Amino acid sequence: MLSVTEHYENHLAPVYLWMAGGIDAAIARGQAEVDAVCPHPTKANLAVDLGAGFGMHAIPLANLGYSVLAIDSSGTLLEVLDGHVGTRPIKTVKDDLLAFKRHLDAPAALIVCMGDTLTHLPDRQAVQGLFDNVAGSLEDGGTFIVTFRDYTTPLIGSKRFIPVRSDADRILTCFLEYDEGAVTVHDILQERDGAEWRLRVSAYRKLRLSPEWVGRALEAKGLQVRKEQGLAGMARLIAKRPL
Ligand SMILES: C[S@@+](CC[C@H](N)C(=O)[O-])C[C@H]1O[C@@H](n2cnc3c(N)ncnc32)[C@H](O)[C@@H]1O
Repeated sequence: MLSVTEHYENHLAPVYLWMAGGIDAAIARGQAEVDAVCPHPTKANLAVDLGAGFGMHAIPLANLGYSVLAIDSSGTLLEVLDGHVGTRPIKTVKDDLLAFKRHLDAPAALIVCMGDTLTHLPDRQAVQGLFDNVAGSLEDGGTFIVTFRDYTTPLIGSKRFIPVRSDADRILTCFLEYDEGAVTVHDILQERDGAEWRLRVSAYRKLRLSPEWVGRALEAKGLQVRKEQGLAGMARLIAKRPL
């Protein structure tokens, strides 16, 4: 099976914007979420976007007034983000988000890890290590926001086939295969090639994390946690470093 980075570079990144319904619609959704849930900055406070992708939250955070450090391991998606930065104060970094601390030279007012990025990490130990670094990198009173899918209840039978998006020339379907602590996500991509259809399949693993486990792991790092319903069936946890 490919690593997450290989899966994105070879398979998903080239169709990611199409999958998200186009950049304008995706950024409009990101802006609505950022405006509703992120603290509004009083000055050019620093926000860190972990797994920023093409900037669905990084661009809205800069629009809200933050200086943004956007980290992702996909060069293809960061190139899209770079192409849409304009004059906004966004710095993009191609790196493993687990190493985000080495790109920080001051505490952050806000750190986000949104859009199911958390489940891409290799194991629970990596998640706990990330939370340790997040708690230690926030200003006093700073906020961490994470949104992710809860895969703890397995889908069964034909429910494991999830239509993601389709048009006249392309169809993307996910097939989920569950094991103890993770789910293997097979991204099944069918693309029209003249009169024929080409099939490409690639898979990667996602962690099966419950919002309760994530909440406890954040509290164990000294953060005060609120759980709520996020967009598109995702869980959203908002964690504050006490003043
Ligand atoms: C599901 S996408 C979400 C992107 C973005 N946050 C959003 O909401 O549109 C997951 C992103 O995390 C990135 N990613 C996954 N694991 C990573 C890691 N260990 N380090 C850096 N980026 C990672 C992928 O390249 C991808 O852009």
